[in-house]
Amino acid sequence: ARVPDMPAETHPLPVKRAVVIGGGTMGGGIAMSFANFGIPVTMVEQTQEALDRGLKKCEANWERTLKSGRLSEADYAKRRALLTGSTDMGVVAEADLVIEAVFEDINVKKEIFAKLDAIARPGVVLASNTSTLDIDAIASATKRPELVVGMHFFSPANVMKLLEIVRGKASSFEAIATAMDVGKRIGKVNVVVGNCDGFVGNRMTGKRGFQLERLLLEGALPADIDRAMETYGMAMGPCATGDLAGLDIGAAVRKARGTKAPIADALVAAGRYGQKTGKGWYMYDEKRTRLPD
Ligand code: NAI
Repeated sequence: ARVPDMPAETHPLPVKRAVVIGGGTMGGGIAMSFANFGIPVTMVEQTQEALDRGLKKCEANWERTLKSGRLSEADYAKRRALLTGSTDMGVVAEADLVIEAVFEDINVKKEIFAKLDAIARPGVVLASNTSTLDIDAIASATKRPELVVGMHFFSPANVMKLLEIVRGKASSFEAIATAMDVGKRIGKVNVVVGNCDGFVGNRMTGKRGFQLERLLLEGALPADIDRAMETYGMAMGPCATGDLAGLDIGAAVRKARGTKAPIADALVAAGRYGQKTGKGWYMYDEKRTRLPD
């Protein structure tokens, strides 16, 4: 990615260890991305139970790759050893980069960033994986707004290559260069975007949700819409993608934007969040494998 006006002599800050706050859908995938590319990483969760769940999901993911023959035992052991977990936010003191991936709630994020700022060493970049919140508002909770950026990964974060680096009003070139350098090291394709509604990926595909609802009302089934788009060339249809990411996430985005998707909203109201609750547009078994239609 090219950044307008960035001086050629801007150097990224060295990142030898990352800390990821939150071990949910995104935190787990982000942590795996670091371990996959040889960078030690610590996952921080609120409770031992949530932490164990987060780490187990990473292990199960690697084990699937191992079984498929795409990962050797030795490489799995290496990756697993690079991933540690903690319920103590104090480990942030050891980080060269912190990536926050907790609930999409501005008050929660501000509270966490104030804590991260107090614990992280001076000069350490603090990044948020937020999909919709204002990076400047998050940065305002710290005394280092120049070191706060967005690093917006896509689900599943250990697989999806796109990384949107969000440049806040105060973000320094050095902070942007650090996020770009890390993105490159963990195999992502970086794009740098302004602090704006939806960034690129979600903003451009957001309209898809509206058309999906119309198509359903006009007589198509979710599986047919997905099959059409997958045959057309999309890696995964909109319903399967929604179930993977969590339909509650889409609902939160709509709430923030003041838009509506009555069918998807009804699924969420019925507790059908997608793979994580065993049903969404589709039904899943306990291993999150889709059941036949
Ligand atoms: P999630 O609900 O799966 O995970 C959030 C995790 O954060 C939970 O496990 C929770 O226990 C933990 N957490 C909350 N407060 C914490 C604290 N103080 N310390 C440590 N851990 C804490 O949510 P998900 O989907 O992973 O989303 C996280 C962030 O990533 C949100 O900002 C969301 O907007 C963003 N995002 C989500 C995407 C998706 O497809 N799900 C895609 C890109 C970004």
